[in-house]
Formats: sequence, C-alpha cells, structure tokens
Amino acid sequence: MPCADETVPALPRHVAVIMDGNGRWAHRQCLPRVAGHRRGAEVVREMVQSCVDLGIPYLTLFAFSTENWRRPALEVRLLMNLFRLLLRREVRKLHENGVRLCIIGDRSALERDIRQLVEEAEALTCNNKRLQLNLAVNYGGRWDIAQAACAAIAAMQAGEFALEDFSEAHIARYLSLADIAEPDLLIRTGGEERISNFLVWQLAYTEFYFCDTLWPDFDRTALEHALHSFAHRQRRFGRTGDQVLEGDCFASD
Ligand code: IPE
Ligand code: IPE
Ligand code: MG
Repeated sequence: MPCADETVPALPRHVAVIMDGNGRWAHRQCLPRVAGHRRGAEVVREMVQSCVDLGIPYLTLFAFSTENWRRPALEVRLLMNLFRLLLRREVRKLHENGVRLCIIGDRSALERDIRQLVEEAEALTCNNKRLQLNLAVNYGGRWDIAQAACAAIAAMQAGEFALEDFSEAHIARYLSLADIAEPDLLIRTGGEERISNFLVWQLAYTEFYFCDTLWPDFDRTALEHALHSFAHRQRRFGRTGDQVLEGDCFASD
C-alpha cells in the first residue's frame, strides 16, 4: 500500500514558521525594534492570505517564546501590546476570511485581558475551515512536552493505562496541535539555523528551510522559494530512497 502523503513531494499541508529578524530589520532602517515587530505583524497578515490563496490548511507561527521574557521589559510590554491590538483589530477579518485562530503556549502567564481576548477569538472562529492559524505565544517545546507528560501521568493515575503500557503515543496525545498533522515544512527567517525551543517534539520529521531574509521582508516570492525547495525534497521517514521511489512503504510500520 503506497503512502502517498509521505512520498509525493507537493505542497505542504502544515507550514510552521519561526519569524525571526524583526529587530535587525528595524536596526537597518534606523528605527526602534518595535517598528520591526509592527512590520512583522503586517507580514503575518500577508502570510495568512498566501496560505488561504494556495490552499495550505495549517499555519503555525512562533510569535513569542518562553525565553523571550528575558528581553528588556519595555520590548516585552510592546510585544504584548501589539498582540492585544492584533486580537482586537484582526480577529473579525480572520473570521470573515474563514480562518480559525488557535493560540498555543502557556497562557497562564498572559495578562487577564489578553487571555479573555484569546478565548473570545478562539470561540468566534472555532468552526472555520479554510485555514487553521496556530499562534505560539509564551510557547516552548520543552514546556509542551512537560505539560503533556503531566497530563499523561494524570491519566495513568486515573487508571486509563498501566505504567508498563506507557509509550510515546501517551505523550503525543496531549501535546499542543495533537489533533492536526505535524508540520511538513519549517521555515526560519533571519539567518539563524536553530529551533530556539519551538515545536521540539512535533518537528521530528519536518523538512527545514532556513533563509537570510528578515521576517519583515518575507514576501510572497520568498514563500514561493521555500515551497519550491520543499517540493524537491525526498521524505524518507527512515526508509531508503529506492523504497520511496518504488512506493514500497506502509503508513504504520
Ligand atoms: C523575532 O524577531 C520576533 C520575536 C522574537 C518576538 P527578533 O525580535 O528576534 O529579531 P532579531 O533576531 O533581534 O533581529
Ligand atoms: C525565536 O526567535 C522566537 C520567535 C521567533 C518568537 P529568537 O530571536 O527569540 O531566537 P534566538 O534567541 O535568537 O534563538
Ligand atoms: Mg531573533
């Protein structure tokens, strides 16, 4: 049984993005860092539209990491203000465009009014099907694995399964984004080639695309370059290239 999803290089169904380079973009224009974040937010809007146009159904964007609290307090405050503004101004447009908004990350550290806006946005858009936009805010891959492990242990203590039956599936089921396919393509802009504690578990078999373009300059053409690169990858999932070419693979082995 050939598993076309794994072997045919086509458009990714799930694209994840580490949107990096806002600060350097602003610095190059002699502007404050927040100007880069503002421009970056506009590029998010364009990226969402590109995914809708292209028919990519899942987009996951890294907006604020668990480590980004280490930035100067003023920058953190401005980033949170920008997030608040986007939730107030953009959600209705997303809804009208058929976009479902999901926020992943530890929201307990977010300010109460932001948490409220997040809940309202998720409730308003929850039935939309054109694109699922996952925004990672106060998100860390290690936090995600730890909270999933915690939930798995609670399920075990409640008698759902025995310790000797414990497997990776018990963690996977409680991770953020457990209900959608793992990312096919990870794009990182801004020239760094690292994961920075993004979807540590979920990226196990994702194709990586690193580019020097700073996020505020990441336009439709830059996205098309990334998609073109993805289309020429051979995804082997541990098999040989010949096996993949012969379609000799089984989804569950
Ligand atoms: C990414 O851009 C945005 C966030 C992390 C919030 P940066 O702010 O990291 O930009 P550089 O890396 O300093 O250029
Ligand atoms: C990663 O970018 C986090 C986000 C894009 C939200 P950083 O700029 O924070 O990553 P490091 O610190 O350079 O690894
Ligand atoms: Mg950065």
